[in-house]
Amino acid sequence: MRNTNTAKDHYIESTFALEDKPLSNVVFTLRLDEAHMQISPIEGKTLQTLIKMVGAKKIVEIGTLAGYSSIWMARALPEGGRLYAVEVDKTKETRILDNIKKCGVADKIELIIGKALDILPTLEQYGPFDAVFIDADKAGYVNYLEWAEQNVRKGGLIIGDNTFLFGAVYGDNSRGMKPEVIEIMQEFNERLANPAKYTSIILPTAEGMTVAVKNF
Ligand SMILES: C[S@@+](CC[C@H](N)C(=O)[O-])C[C@H]1O[C@@H](n2cnc3c(N)ncnc32)[C@H](O)[C@@H]1O
Repeated sequence: MRNTNTAKDHYIESTFALEDKPLSNVVFTLRLDEAHMQISPIEGKTLQTLIKMVGAKKIVEIGTLAGYSSIWMARALPEGGRLYAVEVDKTKETRILDNIKKCGVADKIELIIGKALDILPTLEQYGPFDAVFIDADKAGYVNYLEWAEQNVRKGGLIIGDNTFLFGAVYGDNSRGMKPEVIEIMQEFNERLANPAKYTSIILPTAEGMTVAVKNF
């Protein structure tokens, strides 16, 4: 979610998370009801920095929308690097392909349309992966984590967005999230918080971004 209404956010964005024109245009390809779903420039630059830090060459993204987060991450990939972007909604396909082309990363992103749970097993042949970014249906987060645990290399990253579940994971359920989805997100965070397996944290962004380095 875009989060630039404070002077602090504006400062960070204008110094560290500047977008070029094609990237800043991606938001205008969204429908009004989708605009809140895209990560912010600060979150995009955070992802890009993390991807670079682990020297990622192969990434899987679950939930692509218009390609904004994919573009930030793909721009950190070296020559020959690949990001597999999984998106369930076929109506978004043309827009995503158009956006990644305009942003100069069409050769680095492979878009796969379909339900993540059906697509992920077909990607295993390209693994192990250096990073998995989970940003799709919240009810699926533990299933996606199960897959990521098996398919991310030791020292790689598992990242999930919206992991505060709008406050519901810590008891503020003013958005009326379903109890079973709250349990799923709490399990997702608790599993990634396990210091025996991960070095990890929830970055306190507006919506929470769980970042975990896999240590096994
Ligand atoms: C929050 S948006 C992704 C935003 C994107 N990562 C960004 O910040 O630019 C969530 C996306 O996940 C997709 N999605 C929902 N359920 C899915 C599933 N089961 N498999 C794949 N994609 C799914 C939605 O269609 C939507 O485009």
